[in-house]
Amino acid sequence: MERRAFLGTLSTPVLAACAVCMGACSKNSSGGGGSAGGSANFTIDLTSSLLTVGSSLVQSGVIVVRIAAGNVVSSFTAVQVNCTHEGTSINYNASQGIFICPNHGSTFTTTGAVTLGPATTNLKKYDININGTVMTVVG
Ligand code: FES
Repeated sequence: MERRAFLGTLSTPVLAACAVCMGACSKNSSGGGGSAGGSANFTIDLTSSLLTVGSSLVQSGVIVVRIAAGNVVSSFTAVQVNCTHEGTSINYNASQGIFICPNHGSTFTTTGAVTLGPATTNLKKYDININGTVMTVVG
């Protein structure tokens, strides 16, 4: 079947879906341009979330991790979840105590500093405040 004839057999919704998909798939295809951390201001209930050391959650573009026991500021860290290389969501590796990007392997300390590329820019670090069992993440 000729290409033109094949395209003629497709319905308009299918073609529209292909156009949307192609646009989404081309994002970041040239490399570089990881997204910077945006602003955030949200609360977390520490009676029901982040109960165990190494646990994490993602909210408003921020990954929040419990790195030690106790409900004090030093027991947590909060950094942008999007890798500064190409924007892939990073993960916290509890056994190594670092953030690792699953896309190309960049690593970051718990304060967001790059320790292994290809990323060259640190993650944005967010401020944490704790009042009783309510954590506020701002930045
Ligand atoms: S997107 Fe390339 S290392 Fe994270």
